[in-house]
Amino acid sequence: MGLYEQLEECAAAVRARAPGAAPKVGLILGSGLGSFADSLADRVSVPYSDLPHFPVSSVPGHAGRLVVGRIGTEPVVVMQGRVHFYEGYTPAQVAFPARVLCALGIRSLVVTNAAGAINLAYRPGDLMAITDHVNLSGWNALVGPNDDRLGPRFPDMSHAYDLALTAQLFEAGKRAGVDLKRGVYAILSGPSYETPAEIRALRTLGADAVGMSTVPEVVAAAHMGVKVAGVSCLTNLAAGIGSKPLSHEEVSETANRVRDLFCRLLADFIPAAAKV
Ligand code: HPA
Repeated sequence: MGLYEQLEECAAAVRARAPGAAPKVGLILGSGLGSFADSLADRVSVPYSDLPHFPVSSVPGHAGRLVVGRIGTEPVVVMQGRVHFYEGYTPAQVAFPARVLCALGIRSLVVTNAAGAINLAYRPGDLMAITDHVNLSGWNALVGPNDDRLGPRFPDMSHAYDLALTAQLFEAGKRAGVDLKRGVYAILSGPSYETPAEIRALRTLGADAVGMSTVPEVVAAAHMGVKVAGVSCLTNLAAGIGSKPLSHEEVSETANRVRDLFCRLLADFIPAAAKV
């Protein structure tokens, strides 16, 4: 079975569990940021393990379910947890869930993650709108045969993060009282955190934040013609900036600490995103 047929089958399985669902906005919740899905109205949760072809995450803090419901009057579909390349999945598998959201008919995708702060003006607990990315993972989600029904072989990435959608994100930040930063997100494959020399190199390359996710989903959504906006929760100073060793515990603790702010931003942004 080809990718296109797998997507159709998986989207049909979601529709069977949530009849009539017609989400216009999709949302991917990163490490420690999953609680927003609990605020959806009329929600139906589907464990990833119930969905055909869907990869299942092994990382603590990644719940692993698709939640279909509403924010206000807007129908949305939310991924509570994602999989990563470092877990051993192929690029196509990592991007598959984002493609399912696109196959469900979303017009806009909001991607979120936990990331290390490279920009010296940014602090742990800051939220950052992703304006662009640098893919240093060594791979690309579109490697493999291209199905022209999904998108072109060589998709343009000049506006991978949609300008109008990102402008709405900043407006939502103002309304929600969030001092939203902006910057470039760099992806490395992980799972080891970076060395201080790698962080200095990334800063020279123009990166403001670093992580191990998000880029494959953004590339896949752009491939399928879906608009993207991104939010990083800066959970820690990147390696070599502070004196503490990096740890997944610090990442989870900071994500937890900014949970209310993060949820307020999304609750304000998503209805606006549906109108872009
Ligand atoms: N590096 C890579 N990934 C991350 C970090 C980091 O410092 N923080 C959260 N995810």
